[in-house]
Amino acid sequence: AAAAKQIPVSWHTITDGTSGKLTASQVQASIDVLNKDYASTGFSFYLSASETVTNKSWFTGVDQGTTAEAQMKNSLRDGNALTLNVYTVSFGSSGLLGYATFPWSYSGAPKNDGVVIAYQTYPGSSYAPFNQGRTLTHEVGHWLGLYHVFQGGCTGSGDSVSDTPAQSTATSGCPSSQDSCPNVAGVDSIHNFLDYSDDACMYQFTAGQTSRMAQIVSAYRG
Ligand code: ARG
Ligand code: ZN
Ligand code: CA
Repeated sequence: AAAAKQIPVSWHTITDGTSGKLTASQVQASIDVLNKDYASTGFSFYLSASETVTNKSWFTGVDQGTTAEAQMKNSLRDGNALTLNVYTVSFGSSGLLGYATFPWSYSGAPKNDGVVIAYQTYPGSSYAPFNQGRTLTHEVGHWLGLYHVFQGGCTGSGDSVSDTPAQSTATSGCPSSQDSCPNVAGVDSIHNFLDYSDDACMYQFTAGQTSRMAQIVSAYRG
């Protein structure tokens, strides 16, 4: 197994002055979920910095690719390629939970690197069924180089991991089982962190995902 890698987390809580505030214990609880979910992978996380920033257009307007996103990250991102920058915002009525950048994009756009999540997704919030902190776990999976388990559908190289069966649809809720590629061996990875299931339903990384993360991170994040 790869040597354990400790990842500093720089946490940026964006508010509009009223909504979006997180307490120190809500931030720490989020880090605790990461450490629990990634315990089998050799990655651990610790809070290296935490700030609360009031900016109405960043709070409500940071969909991926927007000017607000670029301004926010250019102003706030800190650390190096191995620093996980987390931004909590509001995505309003779109229902978007979060988005992330991949490790291989860091060298071309270092300031853009990081994870943006809806502030309501912290563990213990009222945002059921997305209130156990798994949005952060999922987005950090992308940040460490993983694709969705349903990437690529029923044919081809899928998510570039050999032990996640081919899957063609994103799972919603928590079905008892699902097989979206009946002609390909294996059932859907509905309990995998890189599917779209409810927070309570997702609790697994595979061995293949674990080795992909180790490999990609040492190649791109040092
Ligand atoms: N839809 C988001 C994405 O594609 C996150 C999904 C998170 N799922 C969850 N159960 N919290 O990155
Ligand atoms: Zn995703
Ligand atoms: Ca199948």
